[in-house]
Amino acid sequence: MAVFMTLLNSKVGQIMTTLILIILLIAGGVGYFAWYNFRREVPIVYKSAEDHFKYGSINSGGIPFFIWEVLPDLFAEHLPGPGGYQSLGFIWEEGKEMPIGVSKSIVGFPRQGSTCALCHSTTYRKSPKDTPTLVLGAPTQKFDSIANIRFLAACGNDAKFTPDNIIPAIEANHQLSWSDKLLYRYVIIPQTQKALMGLGLGFAWTNSRPDPGPGRIPSFNPVKFINFRLPLDDTIDNVDDPPVWNQRKHKGFDYHWDGLETNLTETTIMGALAAGTKPDNVPLENLQRVEDFIRLIPPPDYPFDIDPVLASQGKPIFDNNCASCHAFGGDRTGTVIPIEEIGTDDHRIEMWTQAAVDGYLAVGDGEEWDFTHVQKQNGYVAVALDGIWLRAPYLHNGSVPYLRDLLEVPSDRPSTFYRGYDVYNPNQVGFISQGREAQQEGFAYDTNLEGNSNQGHLYGTNLSTEEKQALLEYLKTL
Ligand code: HEC
Ligand code: HEC
Repeated sequence: MAVFMTLLNSKVGQIMTTLILIILLIAGGVGYFAWYNFRREVPIVYKSAEDHFKYGSINSGGIPFFIWEVLPDLFAEHLPGPGGYQSLGFIWEEGKEMPIGVSKSIVGFPRQGSTCALCHSTTYRKSPKDTPTLVLGAPTQKFDSIANIRFLAACGNDAKFTPDNIIPAIEANHQLSWSDKLLYRYVIIPQTQKALMGLGLGFAWTNSRPDPGPGRIPSFNPVKFINFRLPLDDTIDNVDDPPVWNQRKHKGFDYHWDGLETNLTETTIMGALAAGTKPDNVPLENLQRVEDFIRLIPPPDYPFDIDPVLASQGKPIFDNNCASCHAFGGDRTGTVIPIEEIGTDDHRIEMWTQAAVDGYLAVGDGEEWDFTHVQKQNGYVAVALDGIWLRAPYLHNGSVPYLRDLLEVPSDRPSTFYRGYDVYNPNQVGFISQGREAQQEGFAYDTNLEGNSNQGHLYGTNLSTEEKQALLEYLKTL
């Protein structure tokens, strides 16, 4: 009997051990399968700093690459026009897999993300027939970030967003294994749909405020309301995308339109968080490469003729009227000018609250990086004017289409115009903002809407016509 029990015990023991082994193997297999398909990272490294700026991942999340690729075909009716993503203002270089400002990374499966170049690069044309010239580091003229978000949300909310529609569309471009297909059908597509619907809800507050249109974004309210979950307020934060070139010469400046940061590395990380990077996933090395790059990008030369005599007549006018706030080395250049003094639209300042400052000061706690230079100020930075010709429309809210208009009193500045057309007007110094083409390709900007005011900044408005002409010529040389 005892012998029988031992035999039984050892038999039971063997079976148990085998069972445990099988369970462990299955668990390990499932774990490996999950890791391989969702977490395995395959770095995509761009050798050139330029390509890294355009396409290099900043871990900004985004949506599955293969799904992102097929949305414009499947949901063309939700785009503002024909031409796929280009109708939202993406710049697509010939023969490239994705537009500038979009990254592809592999974390388990290929994922799409945003890069800094999305809002910080542009094209311009000297005439409608010209091939567009690309300038990295420039404020985007055409990319419409809110229209992009609304397009993605509309796709997610569309009854056609189903595996039966999406998988065959993906398979027209890529081979999917049977296990890939199962993953897309039962996990990736449903989760993406949920995320896109969530994106729409997260940005619903933009529906009750004026649209920013191309070249502008709501700057920090998305982070306040979505990331920090601060209570909704009714502030309006639509701002013009700024340039990021020539940063080595901006050392010591206050950053962002209202000077809420004073450190470039922190400003760069802020850019990544705004693009969707999670605080515990900030790719410091990749961002350092971007920072090194934007330090060195030169501001672009004015592409039309400049009259050297007239420009030299403009220099003393600039020195007397503008240099203290705008020349490199000027007493107030790169510092905040109080709102009572500058008199431009104050909505952007009202948006930036102490609660937002506190949120940023806390968000890096426990990480390898931290924000320690975030602050609340009460005015706008007197920016250096390097490459000013390509920064039209002017002021923090992009409310003045031409540089020539900025030298006129506000009542003589255009009260409505179109922005988003990339053909340049060398006479007025800015992008063409009136007429049929500008209307067809552009977005109607109304300075009477909240946050869009073109008041303030009266410097130079009392100069004579000849002096203004000379000053304008000089400004083209900066
Ligand atoms: C979705 C558009 C968008 C993306 C993506 C983006 N930025 Fe920006 N960036 C802006 C806007 C808009 C501002 C101005 C915000 C404000 O002050 O209200 C800004 C401000 C800046 C500034 C301050 C410029 C100055 O002179 O004050 C720097 C530097 C900068 N961004 C770098 C980056 C970097 C680096 C990345 C990528 C890691 C990035 N940005 C991603 C839109 C963007
Ligand atoms: C007292 C300081 C001060 C003086 C003097 C001054 N500015 Fe400005 N300037 C500013 C500030 C501050 C801003 C940003 C205001 C805003 O965006 O609301 C600005 C913005 C600008 C912009 C728009 C920049 C952009 O990227 O959109 C231009 C162009 C400009 N100034 C040109 C001039 C010229 C030309 C003169 C001389 C005739 C001049 N400024 C005199 C403080 C000054």
